[in-house]
Amino acid sequence: MSETDRTPALDPETARSLLDRAREARRNAYAPYSEFRVGAALLARDGRVFTGVNVENVSYGLGNCAERVAVGKAVSEGAQEFTAIAVVGPEDDVACSPCGACRQVMHEFAPEMVLVTPDGAGWRADRIADLLPGAFVPARLAGHGRTV
Ligand code: THU
Repeated sequence: MSETDRTPALDPETARSLLDRAREARRNAYAPYSEFRVGAALLARDGRVFTGVNVENVSYGLGNCAERVAVGKAVSEGAQEFTAIAVVGPEDDVACSPCGACRQVMHEFAPEMVLVTPDGAGWRADRIADLLPGAFVPARLAGHGRTV
């Protein structure tokens, strides 16, 4: 999809600036095993931007993705409402599609949030809820334990 027919709507200046922040953050990625460096920039409704990078571990299964690091940083700093997140993989012009675990974590806080990814020289935008059909949602817990 090109920048002109992207969906949903996102202010292009915001999209480009988040992509820049994600690329800048990517420099700090800790990815000695996969050498697949990822950066993310998460925009909170209050205007704050929280960055994240993938943090791998010699015990491979303990590695964390850039998106979940950004969400964890944001929540720990008191932000829980998000409007957009930009994610970049090792290449500046190729999308890095979030894994299923990250989709579920982003969906927890912001199903309407817009994911911005590189698309050639431009970018594309997708709604998180559209990327995770059939997400597990709090309503499903009704009658079991406590729902928020
Ligand atoms: N990774 C992310 O950080 N985000 C994604 O959206 C896809 C994958 C990381 C996990 C691992 O450190 C490396 O990329 C290769 O899978």
